[in-house]
Amino acid sequence: MKHLITGAAGFIGAALSERLLSRGDEVVGADNINDYYDPALKHARLERLAAYPAFRFERSELADPHATAELFDPAKGCGGNYDTVVHLAAQAGVRYSIDEPHAYADSNLTAWLNVLQGCRHGQPERVVYASSSSVYGSRDTIGAGAGEPFAETDCVTRPASFYAATKMAGELMAHSYADLFGLDVAATRFFTVYGPWGRPDMALLKFTQAIHAGEPIPLFNAGKMHRDFTYIDDIVDGLEKLVDGVGSQGPGFREYNLGNGDPMPLGDLVSAIEKALGKPAKRNLLPMQAGDVPYTYADISKARRELGFEPKTLLDDGVARFVDWWLGYTGVSAPQRRAA
Ligand SMILES: NC(=O)c1ccc[n+]([C@@H]2O[C@H](COP(=O)([O-])OP(=O)(O)OC[C@H]3O[C@@H](n4cnc5c(N)ncnc54)[C@H](O)[C@@H]3O)[C@@H](O)[C@H]2O)c1
Repeated sequence: MKHLITGAAGFIGAALSERLLSRGDEVVGADNINDYYDPALKHARLERLAAYPAFRFERSELADPHATAELFDPAKGCGGNYDTVVHLAAQAGVRYSIDEPHAYADSNLTAWLNVLQGCRHGQPERVVYASSSSVYGSRDTIGAGAGEPFAETDCVTRPASFYAATKMAGELMAHSYADLFGLDVAATRFFTVYGPWGRPDMALLKFTQAIHAGEPIPLFNAGKMHRDFTYIDDIVDGLEKLVDGVGSQGPGFREYNLGNGDPMPLGDLVSAIEKALGKPAKRNLLPMQAGDVPYTYADISKARRELGFEPKTLLDDGVARFVDWWLGYTGVSAPQRRAA
C-alpha cells in the first residue's frame, strides 16, 4: 500500500509512518518542519524514518495550493496515486491559538482544504483526518454533567478555543467533501496523546524537564484537571485499523474517539514521572487558564465496536517508557543514577 502522511515529522505522524514502513508499506511523508517547537526533534524523527528505503520525505507547505497539488500529481516526484491519505499536519496547541490564530487558519483550514482538493482529484481509497477531543469543549460551559464521558453523538458546537474551532471546522469540511466527491473519510478525535518522541509543548515533557531540573511545575486549576491520557502505540493501533479500512462502509464521513477511556488526575501524571525519574516534584498550584477545559473523558465504545480498538497501556508504564526515551534523547543523566 502507498500512503501520504502529512505531518510526518510530527509526533503522531512519525510514529504512524514507522508502523506502516515496518510492515513493508510505502510512505510519502510531507511536513513544513515549522518551528512551533524545536525542529531538531522533527529532524531526529525523520532520521529514523529515513532508514526505511520505502520512505520518501517532501518538505512541503500544505497551505500553498500548488505545493500540495504537486504531492498528488502522478507526473511529479512522489507519483501521487495514494491508497490512503492520513492528514496529521496541523498547528496544534490550545493556548498558542489565543496569540497566533492565523497560524491555525493557515495550517488547519487552508492546508486541509488543499489536501482535500488533492483527494478529490486523486481519489484515494481512504482518508483519515486528525481531529481532537477539544471539539467537545468545556463541559461546564455547555451544561452537561461533569464526569460524563464524551461521545461522538454529543453536541459539539461550543468550542472553548480557536484551535478546537478549527478542528471542528475541519471535520465539517471533510464531511462535505466526502458527500460531494465520494470520499471515504474517518475523523479521529485524539485524547491527550503521550509517549516517546512526544511534543515539547505538552505537559508530560515540560513536567519531566522541570522535575529533573529541580524546578517547580505549574499545576493549573490547582491540579484538579483530569485528562484521558492515551499512549502513542494505542493511537497508532487505531490509525492502522482505519488505514486498513476496518469499519469502512465505503464513501461517507464517520468520526471516532481514540482515547484511553479512563481519565486520570494530573497529579497521577506527576506521580508517574516522579517514580520514573526517582525524584520528587515541586508543585506550583495555579488558577485555570483561558481556553482550557477541566477534564476530558473518551467514550470509546464506538471505536471498540466498529474498529476493535482496545487501548492497552497503563499510565505508569507509558510514562516510564517516555522518561527512558527522554533521558536517552536529551543525554541528561537520570537523577538516581547520578546519586549512585
Ligand atoms: N498529540 C495530541 O495529544 C493530539 C491531540 C488531539 C489532536 N491532535 C492532532 O493530531 C495531529 C498530530 O499531532 P502531533 O501531536 O503529532 O503534532 P505535531 O505538531 O508534532 O505534528 C504536526 C506536524 O505538522 C506539521 N505542519 C503544521 N502545519 C503545516 C503546514 N501548513 N504544512 C506542512 N506541515 C505542517 C508540523 O511541522 C508538525 O511536524 C494534529 O492534527 C493535532 O491537531 C494531537
